[in-house]
Amino acid sequence: MYLVKTYNELEASLKEVAALVEDAMDTLLPDENINRIGEQELVKAIRYSSFAKGKRLRPFLTVTSAALFGVSKQTAAQVAAAIEFVHTFSLIHDDLPALDDDDKRRGVPSLHKKFDEATAILAGDAMLAFAFEVLVHPTTHPDSKVRCDLVSALAEAVGTKGMVGGQMIDMLSEKHELSKEEVARMQRMKTGSLFSVSCEAGAILGKAPIQLRTALRAYAHDIGLAFQITDDLLDYESTPNSGRENKSKEKGTYVKLIGVEKARMAARMLSEQAITHLTPFDKKAAPLRELALYLVDRKK
Ligand code: IPE
Ligand code: IPE
Ligand code: MG
Ligand code: MG
Repeated sequence: MYLVKTYNELEASLKEVAALVEDAMDTLLPDENINRIGEQELVKAIRYSSFAKGKRLRPFLTVTSAALFGVSKQTAAQVAAAIEFVHTFSLIHDDLPALDDDDKRRGVPSLHKKFDEATAILAGDAMLAFAFEVLVHPTTHPDSKVRCDLVSALAEAVGTKGMVGGQMIDMLSEKHELSKEEVARMQRMKTGSLFSVSCEAGAILGKAPIQLRTALRAYAHDIGLAFQITDDLLDYESTPNSGRENKSKEKGTYVKLIGVEKARMAARMLSEQAITHLTPFDKKAAPLRELALYLVDRKK
């Protein structure tokens, strides 16, 4: 008999972390009834995108990685919120007409459609700055060295060698044919970098030894690529009514380069490879192992 794996426990933990991080985001952000011109429009836009239905995968990575080192969920949630602001900013800018030109995001009109392009650009800029403001705040961690390490890790993950660099290659891939290795590098940068820093942040908060921090980074790096390949597969197989956009059909993706079946296999292999990096954590890493399988099994 063919058994379909279920993920009930993992899905319950994902929900729990999502609620926790949404609470943290809500507490951190200014009230949208703030009565100052400019600030009010920005906060409305930031809240609109932040509280649209996201899967909150990166917060789950931070909270779960931090728990490996005995860090409380509450402490990890504030850092997770900062990273989720950066991720949301990346989505807002990714949807702009100059980039993917997508009208929908998280099931609702993308920010530039709901408001306008200028607001979407500026709200994204403000969110990136706000994330760092949160990380350096003493309530994030009492030890300034920990806060400094968090800032440094996030800055590196976002910049030219990370998410933004990956987005640049993604844009170039509309005009230049990329090799499989170049596509892998682009996806590890645009998606893997934020996955990596999400796990690494947990290790930083827990003052983990460097080899465990590196193991978590390696795990996240692999699930990041597996996740992005799956995302492109879902885009590729989407129908006009599925609510997913099809922009990736025109760009450098694994699906385009090696076909659906091989791309699916590559995602599965990466997910298994990711799990091997968790060996030093033993049973404690069970939720992260489950997540690696879940991300390539997902249907949306
Ligand atoms: C979407 O990420 C962008 C990619 C990196 C493929 P998610 O699928 O995690 O987006 P949300 O946060 O759930 O909306
Ligand atoms: C988004 O990648 C990655 C970032 C925003 C960094 P995609 O453009 O492939 O993802 P979707 O399909 O818009 O979510
Ligand atoms: Mg894109
Ligand atoms: Mg896009």
